[in-house]
Amino acid sequence: MQIKAAVTRAPHGPQSLESLELEEPRSDEILVRVVATGVCHTDIAMRDQAFPVPQPIVLGHEGAGFVEKIGSAVTRVAVGDSVVMSYNSCGVCESCVEHEATYCHDFFGRNFAGVRPDGSSALSKGGEKIHGNFFGQSSFANFALCHERNVVKVPEGAPLERLGPLACGIQTGAGAVINALKVGVGKSIAVFGTGSVGLSAIMAAHVVGATTIIGIDLNAQRLKLARELGATHTINAGSENVLEQIMLITDSGVHFALDTTANAKVIRQAVESLTLRGECGLVGASTAGTEISLDVLHLMTAGRKVRGIVEGDSVPEIFIPQLIQLHLQGRFPFDKMLRYYDFADINQAIADSESGATIKPVLRMTR
Ligand SMILES: NC(=O)c1ccc[n+]([C@@H]2O[C@H](COP(=O)([O-])OP(=O)(O)OC[C@H]3O[C@@H](n4cnc5c(N)ncnc54)[C@H](O)[C@@H]3O)[C@@H](O)[C@H]2O)c1
Ligand SMILES: [Zn+2]
Ligand SMILES: [Zn+2]
Repeated sequence: MQIKAAVTRAPHGPQSLESLELEEPRSDEILVRVVATGVCHTDIAMRDQAFPVPQPIVLGHEGAGFVEKIGSAVTRVAVGDSVVMSYNSCGVCESCVEHEATYCHDFFGRNFAGVRPDGSSALSKGGEKIHGNFFGQSSFANFALCHERNVVKVPEGAPLERLGPLACGIQTGAGAVINALKVGVGKSIAVFGTGSVGLSAIMAAHVVGATTIIGIDLNAQRLKLARELGATHTINAGSENVLEQIMLITDSGVHFALDTTANAKVIRQAVESLTLRGECGLVGASTAGTEISLDVLHLMTAGRKVRGIVEGDSVPEIFIPQLIQLHLQGRFPFDKMLRYYDFADINQAIADSESGATIKPVLRMTR
């Protein structure tokens, strides 16, 4: 079939809106009519080759829409179902078998390789191979092919237009707090960077009953929103001494810290802000080869921990419906971070995300 898609043809280049051919779904694939898709910083990082993702490629990995057609072996969804598309995984490696698919041994292959495991792509243009299968979907398009492993059925009638970002950025921040760090009632957390991932972490910390929630950023507007979404304190890293402020607020430091900036200096600060037995999670995506330096005694003598977290340790088919439920009850108002753009304005949406003018762009497809 013919589809309309945004093609990345060069690092740092614009998205080029083109008509492409999309193959019929194979037996284990699902054709989704995309209603809307979020733009994540990872799309931009991959456009610019943070990982060696092949180009030309259709990016996009926060798609939401309706199932249009299913392959003969698909059982999890039916035609007409409302779905979001999340990260993909193999289903058979040690991590997948132990229900830790965010650490799938073939995570790169299933999400960043730009092709199916057999090397083929479902996308082409007049004989030219266009890479696809980005995060098992390539949702910067009006139709996308996904898989049984990464399709998530959402309640009929749920507000699909706003649900796509749950599939990556939002489940990453919220899941880091709820699933990975397991922040509990009465605990303290410092969230470094209050973009869509950090603000999702702040909303989640509020939901689970953390009583000291500190948002840190350079952007005063975002800090204002952080307070509206549950931060009990905010610190402007551009004008205040972050560590001094955290120690004033908490006495000995925070139980949990979460870095979403991927900045090595900020990560060190996040670890230094921990109280004894505190734990720091890293979710910001740096370029390959970035190193951090930490004080070994500071870490060792107090049993502090530092760990990486992918996609908030989320099992999407369990966690995303939970976040939707919280949202519909008014307890997880992530829509306050969203700004909608027509798909045709994708380059503006990306520019606004890069400049910081928009926290989470969502692209709407027109039929
Ligand atoms: N680990 C994962 O599974 C996963 C999933 C999704 C996104 N990510 C990554 O998470 C990161 C955050 O994503 P986002 O969409 O929230 O990005 P974002 O750019 O909107 O947010 C980052 C925030 O950090 C702030 N910041 C930058 N430097 C700072 C400093 N020195 N001190 C304090 N704040 C500072 C920025 O002002 C910005 O608000 C990105 O690197 C993205 O690629 C990771
Ligand atoms: Zn796997
Ligand atoms: Zn993402």
